[in-house]
Amino acid sequence: MSIQPSDSILIVDFGSQVTQLIARRVREAGVYSEIAPFNQAAAAFERMQPKGIILSGSPASVLDENGPRIPAEILDSGLPIMAICYGQQALMHQLGGEVLPGDSGEFGRAFITISDGCALFDGLWREGETHQVWMSHGDKVTSLAPGFKPVASSPGAPFAVIANEEKRIYAMQFHPEVVHTPDGGKLYKNFVRHVCGLSGDWTMAEFRKTKIEEIRAQVGKGRVICGLSGGVDSAVAAVLIHEAIGEQLTCVFVDHGLMRLGEAEQVVSLFRNHYNIPLVHKDVSTLFLGGLAGVTDPEAKRKFIGKTFIDVFEEEARQVGGADFLAQGTLYPDVIESVSFTGGPSVTIKSHHNVGGLPERMNMQLVEPLRELFKDEVRELGRELGLPDIFVGRHPFPGPGLAIRIPGEVTRERCDVLRKADAIYLEEIRNAGLYDAIWQAFAVLLPVKTVGVMGDGRTYDNVCALRAVTSTDGMTADIYPFDAAFLSRVATRIINEVKGINRVVYDYTSKPPGTIEWE
Ligand code: XMP
Repeated sequence: MSIQPSDSILIVDFGSQVTQLIARRVREAGVYSEIAPFNQAAAAFERMQPKGIILSGSPASVLDENGPRIPAEILDSGLPIMAICYGQQALMHQLGGEVLPGDSGEFGRAFITISDGCALFDGLWREGETHQVWMSHGDKVTSLAPGFKPVASSPGAPFAVIANEEKRIYAMQFHPEVVHTPDGGKLYKNFVRHVCGLSGDWTMAEFRKTKIEEIRAQVGKGRVICGLSGGVDSAVAAVLIHEAIGEQLTCVFVDHGLMRLGEAEQVVSLFRNHYNIPLVHKDVSTLFLGGLAGVTDPEAKRKFIGKTFIDVFEEEARQVGGADFLAQGTLYPDVIESVSFTGGPSVTIKSHHNVGGLPERMNMQLVEPLRELFKDEVRELGRELGLPDIFVGRHPFPGPGLAIRIPGEVTRERCDVLRKADAIYLEEIRNAGLYDAIWQAFAVLLPVKTVGVMGDGRTYDNVCALRAVTSTDGMTADIYPFDAAFLSRVATRIINEVKGINRVVYDYTSKPPGTIEWE
């Protein structure tokens, strides 16, 4: 069965951390793509019959005799190729050029100078211009394979971009897929549209169709259970899966009691009334809050919540007569921050309960239709599926909920206090027309008491911190620069209206070095 559109690009993955960003850039250019690991690329090539090939970067070295190689079918295909970093080195290594270990490598921002024109640069970069790119490589190409010419260079990389115009092969040492290469998206667009000649009319509506077929192919006649977290991601995943397999899907809303104000009711109403999707609403707040009693370590909280969530799931799966698949709204940023693709010692910053918290013993297969998408793309898909704007446009909310916004011990009382403060903050943000300009805004209840004075009396109550950040994907973030009048209005309302809070502070930390959530 063929489920991809006829105009497609095959991305051969050599294990780079940013391969999914390549797919995103290609999607942005309106072209369908699939990523295949290098050792399965020949089969994917045969199945897809793509119109162009992109070769990714890699942590490996082509000088290692076991380093990944480009399959012969692809090299001999005569199709246009765009090769990134390791892809460039592999190309030169296999076509008769030379690659040697660099003295020190080149990492971070670099500037390349365009020395010659090529189809990849058409309408974009001209001879003599200098452009910012982002480099990350150790080895480097030292002599070119026959038929190639340099078209751009940097002080550290004489072959920063090389081209074989006749064969329509373009290869570069830098990474055009990351935001630090400001024209990178345009290079991909030029490649897929101008070099490969694709029309660029692929849309989220097509993604929806493709995913529906993929879900049907994966699930067959199996039963799927989907955990709703109350957030956009799991809701979009559930609606998409329901469209694919209808009644084979049962949604379970694990209501851990750590949601924002009124959110649990909203989720139940959306699924039962709006979509008529079978929904089990499990109020397990007592179980969660009971287990969180006395727990103050952030990772311990996350692990407990992740594990308990799955426990409840397994129980529900049994109740509905057994499910073969567990559906989750995992997004790409969750995947990259939670696991190390290379299997190397990359640091786990936080155990995301929807990925890292899955216990090994869980014997259901995963259905994760949003795994390659970024948040803004999920929103677009949600709108495509007819989810109400107020729901789709909602700020992201973490799986562990308010528990990670209450440093120290989490209790029902503290959750209630935080919910009230958070609701006031968000109401003021909406009233000021700022909601959509902010990626995430929320209140945090600190385990710190301070002295205040209200009326004639002394108060000794909690501090509430306000956080608001802008971001495009949650991976980096900047603080939202509210004006002082806005912040003092929110602070006054919270202190006056929420019993238990007598001081409000604003968090001025970007990510990095901070993270968005406090725990
Ligand atoms: P951090 O705090 O790591 O958050 O900068 C980045 C984004 O991820 C969200 N987040 C989570 N989402 N499960 C989720 O589904 C989690 O365990 C989790 N932890 C953080 C966070 O709200 C922000 O949008």
